[in-house]
Amino acid sequence: MRIRVLGSSAGGGFPQWNCNCPQCDGVRRGTLAAKARTQSSIAISDNSQDWLLVNASPDILQQIRATPELQPARAIRDSGIAAVLLMDAQIDHVTGLLMLRERKTPLPLLATPEVFSDIGSGFPITHILSHYCGTALQALPIDGSTVQVPGLPSLQIQTVSLSSKPPPYSPFRGNPRAGDNIGLLIRNPANGAKAFYAPGLAEVTPALITLMRECAVVLVDGTFWTHDEMQRLGLSPKAALDMGHLPQSGPGGMIEMLSRLPASVRKILIHINNTNPILVEDSPERALLTQHGIEVAHDGMDIAF
Ligand code: MLT
Ligand code: MN
Ligand code: ZN
Repeated sequence: MRIRVLGSSAGGGFPQWNCNCPQCDGVRRGTLAAKARTQSSIAISDNSQDWLLVNASPDILQQIRATPELQPARAIRDSGIAAVLLMDAQIDHVTGLLMLRERKTPLPLLATPEVFSDIGSGFPITHILSHYCGTALQALPIDGSTVQVPGLPSLQIQTVSLSSKPPPYSPFRGNPRAGDNIGLLIRNPANGAKAFYAPGLAEVTPALITLMRECAVVLVDGTFWTHDEMQRLGLSPKAALDMGHLPQSGPGGMIEMLSRLPASVRKILIHINNTNPILVEDSPERALLTQHGIEVAHDGMDIAF
């Protein structure tokens, strides 16, 4: 089973178009030891031909161009993307759906009813797409049952309901529901190995620790280093948890949570905001992660399990 990281950055990407914070400025000028990154998305396949796209980022066209495996070229019009699954309804996870409109058949789209309600009303993407390729909606259960993905019969996935936040445009932003944010458990039927993916995670519950302990690899929320990172730079009045993201540092932070997992679990941070110092490869924060056996995802990263 393969996971390909298409975009490892949080909303805005790295560098962000209008940002001149030291990190965005440094990566733009080439003065920092840091790689540019596109917005949050992964692709999953067990035959490297047919893929489940997880999240459709605003950068999807660039990501497809950078990933030749996503174009197996079996017909005059073709794509390796067999279906799309959404982790939430955030702009950085759904906007790329509009870029897939040239399909000849309805796009198989898997999400929870809560996400379908947000992208059917507040940001009416499914309505807009009904005038182009259309969508074939499949509601995702959050009761732990195994999900069948159209076009990918050998994929074994389960969703996990998570504590985070629906997008700012959602009427439920201040009043999150189960189903607004999910994690994904992917099982390799050949060897039983599992991977867990959760780009938006505000709370790591004991149940989640138990689940992650049994995984070969976990790819989790790496948005912010500190709770007040955006506030200190004067970029936003909001704290990390106000946006549904558990920061890495400090008591109860993601580093502490991941330290509860055995060394056999590969630990990778993903969905990294452009302000996060872990993007800088020679930073003390990155060195601390390395000490804890935690990796930082980058665009193009290939994970086999
Ligand atoms: C988030 O996860 O909080 C988003 O990246 C915000 C956004 O897309 O603007
Ligand atoms: Mn995001
Ligand atoms: Zn920036």
